[in-house]
Amino acid sequence: MTLELFPFGDAGERTALGRHAFLLHGFALPYEARLLPAIDHIQTEAPFHHLVTPGGHVMSVALSNCGRLGWTSDEQGYCYTEINPHTGRPWPSMPDVFRELAANAAATAGFDGFAPDACLVNQYLPGARLTLHQDKNERDLSAPIVSVSLGMSAVFLFGGLERSDKTVRVPLKHGDVVVWGGEDRMRYHGVMPVQDAPHPLLGSQRINFTFRKVI
Ligand code: SIN
Ligand code: FE2
Repeated sequence: MTLELFPFGDAGERTALGRHAFLLHGFALPYEARLLPAIDHIQTEAPFHHLVTPGGHVMSVALSNCGRLGWTSDEQGYCYTEINPHTGRPWPSMPDVFRELAANAAATAGFDGFAPDACLVNQYLPGARLTLHQDKNERDLSAPIVSVSLGMSAVFLFGGLERSDKTVRVPLKHGDVVVWGGEDRMRYHGVMPVQDAPHPLLGSQRINFTFRKVI
């Protein structure tokens, strides 16, 4: 791992992380007033859970989903389901503002017509982290991943196609959006332990959505 750190960009700027990977600084800020109530609704319908990985570890990140398919994990493995195993009900539908934001961010990064069928909603409380992984449970790998960060800042690790490849450290703050697809779609990524620096609107938490096209 290197200590290379991308500088903070201003809202409206775009930083290339790869040929088909971009950090869109502050791209979600214009959507903020519509996103926050939608998060509350999702959280009420499908409360956050700490999933158990196939290896038996309890994830420090708490997870919910919206959209037709939701990503879950248990001792058997990772999978997408139409029913939330914790409530026995379908996942809450994907709010229009989520679809708009995801499609517009993807288009800005060069991926037109992005129509996600899944949105993972991750909650990071102080200390929560996500180890390096690839997003590889989706059948449609032609579509990009669109990742929206809200609340407390975090350091995103963006690596290569092998776990051992060097990673760059990318500071993500409230409103930032990262899009990766094409030749960058399978790059390893993760999140360093989140520091407790409360956000004025969201307090001591970081919320991240990742939009995917699964089928
Ligand atoms: C993820 O890889 O699913 C989430 C990334 C993030 O929280 O920024
Ligand atoms: Fe991921």
